[in-house]
Amino acid sequence: MENRLKIAIQTKGRLNEDSMQLIKDAGIDLSIGRRTLVAESRNFPIDALFLRDDDIPQTVGDGVADIGVVGENEMLEKGENVVIVKRLGFSKCRLSLAIPKSLEYNGIEFFNGKKIATSYPVILKKYLAENNITADVHVISGSVEIAPGIGLADAIFDIVSSGSTLISNRLKEVEVVLKSEALLIANPNLSPEKQEILDELIFRIESVQRTKGKKYILLNVPNSKIQEIAALLPGMKSPTVVPLAEEGWSSMHSVIEENDFWVVIGKLKKAGAEGILVIPIEKMIF
Ligand code: PRP
Ligand code: ZN
Repeated sequence: MENRLKIAIQTKGRLNEDSMQLIKDAGIDLSIGRRTLVAESRNFPIDALFLRDDDIPQTVGDGVADIGVVGENEMLEKGENVVIVKRLGFSKCRLSLAIPKSLEYNGIEFFNGKKIATSYPVILKKYLAENNITADVHVISGSVEIAPGIGLADAIFDIVSSGSTLISNRLKEVEVVLKSEALLIANPNLSPEKQEILDELIFRIESVQRTKGKKYILLNVPNSKIQEIAALLPGMKSPTVVPLAEEGWSSMHSVIEENDFWVVIGKLKKAGAEGILVIPIEKMIF
């Protein structure tokens, strides 16, 4: 039988779009009929399994899927035997305690004797125990944010991303318990064949991730300024220098950090650079 890797992906929700983009950036085509549970790739030995995010850690832990994309929050809550292959840097959110906006908050003792609604009882109970707080943890699987408003709980412990869910439910975030992002997780007992497919996938993901925050820059410089300008361009190795048809001028190419961009550009202009072009990078392979 041909070896194929099964990847669990969230069906819909905050992780789905970025997970699909990750697969696409890795050059993998998934033939997805609307609302199918499984999709096969024809150009890479991988099949996708679409699941609720809550079910992904167990699916990978059991080996029903080999790998999966899941929020750190779900992975920690479920405590399955999986390994973190890679932090993916998207779907950033936090798990926080929130209380009605109208109440005064003077610190974590607030929660003593209170009833807290959550879908993350494991993480919450651990946090409460570490802080010597005795509270009643009330588990509900969805719409946690409405619990205080309908008198079901005094507070909530839930995912906060933009914060708009809290605002529209007249709640305020008072303690950040955990910061979370999307993770690529794997079953710890992959066959060597499957590990090889995973390694290729990681290689591709890293080639794309490396480009985050980086731009390719091209500029024309007088030959007498090459040294000075090279010092301003800490590229991948040293910048590429190509002679221009015009005598005494060269074109320099390099990679720059988007964050440093405006500062560097100013210095380059002062040093005599002209015709500066800054373009996006799709993939970087070392
Ligand atoms: C979470 C959480 C809130 C919302 C917070 O639900 O339960 O409802 O996101 O996001 P915001 O701060 O941007 O408003 P999610 O959409 O992840 O669904 P799930 O909990 O059912 O997986
Ligand atoms: Zn969920």
